[in-house]
Amino acid sequence: MLRGKFITFEGGEGAGKTTQIKRLAQWLTAQGRQVTTTREPGGSAGAEQIRSLLVNGPADRWSASTEALLHFAARRDHLEKTVIPALEAGHWVLCDRFVDSTMAYQGYGHQLGREIIEQLQTIVVADFLPDFTVIMDIDPASGLGRAGERAGGEDRYESMALEFHQRLRAGFLDIAARDPERCAVIDADGAIDDIAVQIRELAAQRLSLDQT
Ligand code: TMP
Repeated sequence: MLRGKFITFEGGEGAGKTTQIKRLAQWLTAQGRQVTTTREPGGSAGAEQIRSLLVNGPADRWSASTEALLHFAARRDHLEKTVIPALEAGHWVLCDRFVDSTMAYQGYGHQLGREIIEQLQTIVVADFLPDFTVIMDIDPASGLGRAGERAGGEDRYESMALEFHQRLRAGFLDIAARDPERCAVIDADGAIDDIAVQIRELAAQRLSLDQT
């Protein structure tokens, strides 16, 4: 029995997800809720090991199919070890990326197509989906600039071609259009405080929360 809510943040490189997750976590905590923040790929000991295989090294290190399988393997461990136990304990789980990232990056970016990702999704997560998903939309040219300033290794995806990032951006917008009840698109090219308020208001509406 899952008692908490599961909220995911999605978007291309440098969209500002991490900052906004912190903001929403602070707000929910101030409301007296217990919050777990986590990320994919990663979020459990085993999944963090798989993460380092995915985010380091040359762009052509893995085929698109192998990459999708690694992301789903990491996700399965993360769900079993971190996400499901936290939700069962009544925590609200805020997760930096989830299945929509595999659809956008591997399905659209690497052009594996929707069907293969949907099949893997069915096998690995069945019908487990977020209660609410924030898709932070940014022009890849400026997002990659921001991500570059952050630096610090883990740049395998940043090193992929601009066209790859443009395809995955269009992918995220398509994912949101197909599932408007779960997803909301936010323009990530604004002031941090304004975006935080928009996300809070959307979460409150979608999840029927008291905003005080
Ligand atoms: P992060 O930089 O947001 O932590 O994510 C690491 C990279 O992994 C990022 O470039 C997006 C990529 N990614 C995928 O390609 N597919 C996935 O399923 C996930 C979760 C992330």
